[in-house]
Amino acid sequence: MSYKIPLFDLNFDEKEGQAVAEAIKDNWISTGPRCKAFEDRFAMMLQVNHAISTSNCTVSLHLALKLIGVEPDDEVICPSLTFVATVNAIRYMDAIPVFADVTSYELPVIDPEDIRKKITPKTKAILVMHYGGFACDMDSIMNIANEFRLKVVEDACHGPLSEYKGKKLGTIGDIGCFSFFSNKNISTGEGGMLVTNSSELNDRCRLLRSHGMTSMSYERASGHSTTYDVIELGYNYRMDDIHAAIGLVQLDKIEADLVQRNMIREMYLKKLSSIDGILIPFKGYKEFLSNYIFPIVLKNSTFETRDKIREQLAEAGIQTSVHYPAVHRFSIYKKFYTELPITDYLVDNLITLPMYSKLTNEDVFFIVNTLNSILSNE
Ligand SMILES: Cc1ncc(COP(=O)(O)O)c(C=O)c1O
Repeated sequence: MSYKIPLFDLNFDEKEGQAVAEAIKDNWISTGPRCKAFEDRFAMMLQVNHAISTSNCTVSLHLALKLIGVEPDDEVICPSLTFVATVNAIRYMDAIPVFADVTSYELPVIDPEDIRKKITPKTKAILVMHYGGFACDMDSIMNIANEFRLKVVEDACHGPLSEYKGKKLGTIGDIGCFSFFSNKNISTGEGGMLVTNSSELNDRCRLLRSHGMTSMSYERASGHSTTYDVIELGYNYRMDDIHAAIGLVQLDKIEADLVQRNMIREMYLKKLSSIDGILIPFKGYKEFLSNYIFPIVLKNSTFETRDKIREQLAEAGIQTSVHYPAVHRFSIYKKFYTELPITDYLVDNLITLPMYSKLTNEDVFFIVNTLNSILSNE
């Protein structure tokens, strides 16, 4: 089924294709100069010392937890209101995910007070996720981390260029991780980035990303090195120059894309303000924002009602989603189940409305009017 208004649309034109064609013409398609250029520009945009490109964010998260020294049976405090990859990365290390609730329906990001309650002698790290590109309460989280000597990893997949008190998300904790999956603000198909201000973490990350080898093919082909040693058990988690070529074009577009998304958010806020049955998370949010998604929450509702409303929106040609089904309720996470009342209500009653820079005012009017008439008949 193709929707009249999809949930997301790529911000692509002929430039992405041309960039790929040029990479092919230059005869180097694995990790090489375009990955380096993409990393350098990303680091500059985020005002962070190091950016390391990867094949996706899931592996960035895995590397991040390895780099900060998470060991089997260590506990890592994380949200359940996230994409499952955030938590899977903890399990890759044979560590224990300890789920913390979010602050409120209005602020659906990890609650610092609940983090504090869940700290034990086994806690090693806090893995936060900036939901929708809206910042977690990083001052409180960093204070807790300093008090208990915990490491902080930021899953900033939703928030490239989003800010918290003037700092870019992903640059506040020890390591930040980004995704360039198709539906993200910066799309390369698959792709990821890990950012850090630590030279030590940067050096080790580059080793682990590439089999633990002391040099890479491009360096050898450019005559910078003739051989290599393998000094750690590493992985192949590299990005390639074809994806980086697309990423570089996407970086040219990101600022204008975010301006556009911000206008769409403003339009949604204006139009939705007259609807009583919903609340809009982060309504008065003031920081610079990626606007990755536009979630709304139904008041006094149930998941049956929410699903019925989504079906009716789909019948009208509007694609919606739910960001996200709760991770602590997935079958493989039963062993780590804990009561999370706010997360539970949210995942059953939220609807993600379409958000992308090509969405027009008319599209927003149509979405809001359709939603309003469905809710009036409930
Ligand atoms: C919050 C979050 N974390 C992690 C990921 C995993 O990223 P990737 O698909 O690049 O592995 C995603 C998206 O896919 C995500 O939205």
